[in-house]
Amino acid sequence: HTVDLTFADGTKTVAVPAGSTVLEAAEAAGVRLVSQCTVGTCGTCVGKVVRGDLQMPRDRVFSLRQDEIRDGQRLLCQSVACADSEVELDYPASMLDDYPLVAATAKVGAITWLGESVVELVLKLPKSVRFAFRAGQYVRMQVPGTEEWRSYSMASGERDRKKLTFTIRVLPSGAMSDYLRNGAMVGDKIEIEGPSGAFGLVEESGPTLMIAGGTGLAPMLSMLENLQTAREDTPIRLVFGCTREADLFHLDELRARQSFMRTLDVRVVSDEPTSIDGVLTGNPVSVLTADDVRDPRTAAYLCGPPAMLAAAHDRLVELGLPAERIHAEQFLPS
Ligand code: FES
Repeated sequence: HTVDLTFADGTKTVAVPAGSTVLEAAEAAGVRLVSQCTVGTCGTCVGKVVRGDLQMPRDRVFSLRQDEIRDGQRLLCQSVACADSEVELDYPASMLDDYPLVAATAKVGAITWLGESVVELVLKLPKSVRFAFRAGQYVRMQVPGTEEWRSYSMASGERDRKKLTFTIRVLPSGAMSDYLRNGAMVGDKIEIEGPSGAFGLVEESGPTLMIAGGTGLAPMLSMLENLQTAREDTPIRLVFGCTREADLFHLDELRARQSFMRTLDVRVVSDEPTSIDGVLTGNPVSVLTADDVRDPRTAAYLCGPPAMLAAAHDRLVELGLPAERIHAEQFLPS
């Protein structure tokens, strides 16, 4: 069967042989699709079937809810074609051509603790490497001294292609956390591969609503750099939440951005009450109001842990925002 892949900026057709998934067939045909795990857990390869029939194995649990599957959503790394089909993808085909995958050895340029549990890691790329990304995308990096790879979104803007900044939560255990806490040094070499991912600003003229949980703030900071220059008149609302006061970070940075971005409104929330001036008690979902989505042209961008994304998605729909105006990036499994 053939599958028409309808990207945000055009259509490509691939033939999907029996026994092959749509993702495998597309790759074999030289059509790059957004994907990461290839085993059905990360959810990045999702597409929406608008005609035809794509089936995923029934005996497994995937990162799609039943209502999403009923709505036609499929994980293309798991789907086989049972009829000629058409699949809508919410990213432009040109994106993957404009931002080719690069493997490079980067060097640690700076390690800065932004609070008790968050590190800002700056990686410098060699001069010879041509690296370009779209704000919202991520790279994979190998934890020095291990075989472990982790994915992190760029927090720096897409114009800075030689120096990439990441904000990384340091947990009590874990390969990257152990490295950052105990061994990380300026000058260390880190293998990186990227960029990947389809998260990013959709070309629209309406207001922007960003909802970030924890280090899900990183891609928002990157995207804000574009909004700063591109759309001076549209309202931009950023809701940033953490569980505890000690987990909050970049509050000065957000205040500074607010001072030079006239239309930026920042709401910082903490589940546990804090003594910090201006920080609300609650979570990024509980502080949403109908006013946040009053303009029907609003585009919402969510990044954070899966439970927060699901709750924010449901709340926004309940407040009246159509599901197709909600774009989400989940923390990727390590
Ligand atoms: Fe399909 Fe991860 S690539 S779910």
